[in-house]
Amino acid sequence: MSGFDTTWLALREPADRAARDPGLVQIVARHLSALPDPRVLDIGCGTGSTWRSLARQMPDNTAWQLLDHDPLLLAEAKRQIGPTPTVTFHQNDLNEIAALPLAAAPLVTASALFDLCSQAFCEALVHRLAQARCGLYAALNYDGLFRWSIQHPLDARMVELFNRHQHTDKGFGPALGPDASSCLARLFDTYRYRVWIEQSPWHLDHATSALQTELLKGLRQPLLEIADLPETTIDAWLAFRLAAIHEPESSCLVGHTDVLALPV
Ligand SMILES: C[S@@+](CC[C@H](N)C(=O)[O-])C[C@H]1O[C@@H](n2cnc3c(N)ncnc32)[C@H](O)[C@@H]1O
Repeated sequence: MSGFDTTWLALREPADRAARDPGLVQIVARHLSALPDPRVLDIGCGTGSTWRSLARQMPDNTAWQLLDHDPLLLAEAKRQIGPTPTVTFHQNDLNEIAALPLAAAPLVTASALFDLCSQAFCEALVHRLAQARCGLYAALNYDGLFRWSIQHPLDARMVELFNRHQHTDKGFGPALGPDASSCLARLFDTYRYRVWIEQSPWHLDHATSALQTELLKGLRQPLLEIADLPETTIDAWLAFRLAAIHEPESSCLVGHTDVLALPV
């Protein structure tokens, strides 16, 4: 099980949609429009956020395969999307790269996935994509940046610790965390792909207080696991950050990047 619950994915979905780089989405749409039989494989689909963000901007006849290893998330994706002839659902473990139904899809998409993945996984996946001359649109990879308008002296330290924790194993071996986009770009360069990287930060204000609250609460366990700081210091910092969400001028930027790699 991935440990990603539907409440968290629902909270982040509007922020993700607003953050995606629109220029890359247009290039993806043009790429698919040029194909006689546009097909997309969305890996780590969760409840179908990528499909909901993109499908209406892609050609009407695009066939979507949504893939995840978590049966509960796939069931929720099916429930939310409803019976749609252009969408099929697949329960696969991404670690079994050879078994991924790549041959049938000229484009693979993913959102908020690659920061969980290891370099070894990316090397193997990009190799398979390159063999099939398949493109990749990997949106919303966390890039290590948190910037709060209301600051606390421990912000930089806590973010540095959290980013260190982002490199721990999330099911694919040691995770790339904030290095995911640069790793993907480097790998695709070696296969002579055209690669784009664009910023896609979340801009959060008090209108997104529920998302910010869950995001901060989600930092506690990683910080406890990795920090050489007393629990009381971590909790005092979190209490400050949680209270600051409700200040009228409060905002928080969380850095992400979108990567698009297409065969030339
Ligand atoms: C952060 S969530 C993103 C979900 C969705 N793409 C979104 O943007 O809302 C990461 C997703 O990757 C899936 N995942 C993690 N490890 C996986 C694996 N080994 N095989 C398949 N899916 C996996 C999780 O179940 C989860 O749905």
